[in-house]
Amino acid sequence: MPGLVIVGAQWGDEGKGKVVDLLAEQADLVIRFQGGNNAGHTIVRDGETFKFHLIPSGILYPGKLCAIGNGVVVDPKVLTAEIDDLRRQRIDISGLRISANAHLIMPYHKLLDQEGEAKLGKLQIGTTRRGIGPCYSDKASRLGIRVQDLLDEKILRKKIYAAMEPKRLMLRPYAKEPELDLHTMTEEYRILGHRLEPYIADTAPLAWRVIDEGGLVVFEGAQGTLLDIDHGTYPFVTSSNVVAGSACAGAGVGPSSIDEVWGIAKAYTTRVGAGPFPTELDDALGEAIREAGHEFGTTTGRARRTGWLDLVALRYATRINGLTGLIVTKLDVLTGIDQLNVAVRYRGPEGATFEEFPYHQSILHKAEGEYIPLPGWHDDISGARSPEDLPQNARAYLDYISDFLGVPVVMVGVGPGRDEMIWTGAAERLRPAAA
Ligand code: IMP
Repeated sequence: MPGLVIVGAQWGDEGKGKVVDLLAEQADLVIRFQGGNNAGHTIVRDGETFKFHLIPSGILYPGKLCAIGNGVVVDPKVLTAEIDDLRRQRIDISGLRISANAHLIMPYHKLLDQEGEAKLGKLQIGTTRRGIGPCYSDKASRLGIRVQDLLDEKILRKKIYAAMEPKRLMLRPYAKEPELDLHTMTEEYRILGHRLEPYIADTAPLAWRVIDEGGLVVFEGAQGTLLDIDHGTYPFVTSSNVVAGSACAGAGVGPSSIDEVWGIAKAYTTRVGAGPFPTELDDALGEAIREAGHEFGTTTGRARRTGWLDLVALRYATRINGLTGLIVTKLDVLTGIDQLNVAVRYRGPEGATFEEFPYHQSILHKAEGEYIPLPGWHDDISGARSPEDLPQNARAYLDYISDFLGVPVVMVGVGPGRDEMIWTGAAERLRPAAA
């Protein structure tokens, strides 16, 4: 299994960080392929807490090759802070590589993100305000500044000037911000570049080499399928392609290098920010799931919206990503609920039903889930290490999902701990030694 892509199959926050952390032990390279520090996750290892926004958490294995691919947008301030934190925690980061072709988030991108949201008023996307959208816009406009530009002061200054010129009007309210001064910004980024220089590399050949040698590359996605800029709930999406196909462009490998695509879904659904959410539970049960699942954002601290498992959306994610395996996380959060609903179709505003995920925005905004009730379970499942250890109803819940999607379940999260995971089917041989 040389190429394994891990993607979120819902609206993000499915628990990719923990899964990739566990898979990293057997991987020869972990490479992120899109997004930026809009993502985030926390890993607790031997009682110590590590927070990640850009660096793959595989870095916690000493010397492990962990790359930030060309498709990622990098805020060098956030990245250097993350490196400093890891160093302070005495983590060996010699395996870190940053693609020279990755684009940089600049101070004006963050201001434009804020300004853009403020201007939208009630129509806000609810972005993380990290400058992600404006950075990808500049990339597409060919006004982007790349990691390699940090290493040449003259080029850096020229490019910053050229990128800022067309934005003067939008940036007028911030004209006096010292961080927007051309000289100050060039100097600040030059220094950041100097600090990142030992890690800057051509990252695609790293992946080719591992694949040629029969090793395992884990392609780490961020956000989730329904936040994909083409296939998600546009415009309430992020600014990159997050689907599995994006792993190729964002890491620099061909589709023939991908052997397996595993999608991660929580046993229920959550979403942060605005936009349609057909199975949303805007009630006491939704609140109880939020509390039980600690559904508050790692990056922004925002409370996540919660709802029943949406199999219509999940079947769509299965097709769009070409999933070969499904990882169900946080199954334990549902313990104690008598009846679990799963949405198997949508009902539109005029009573029409939709078996497939509707492409039309106005339908999706008003669609509600139609549910099949499944019996819940009350026994603590955190000790389960194989599907057979689960209560009958929990197993039936997983079987229902797997049959509906036509994809085998390969891992199941039964608690927050590293070892609280069921490894089954194709995942069994990737189980970390420590688990
Ligand atoms: P942006 O990516 O900051 O531009 O935000 C666009 C949308 O994607 C907003 O609804 C965010 O809440 C959402 N989003 C971005 N990153 C994540 C993530 O890692 N988890 C969940 N939602 C995210």
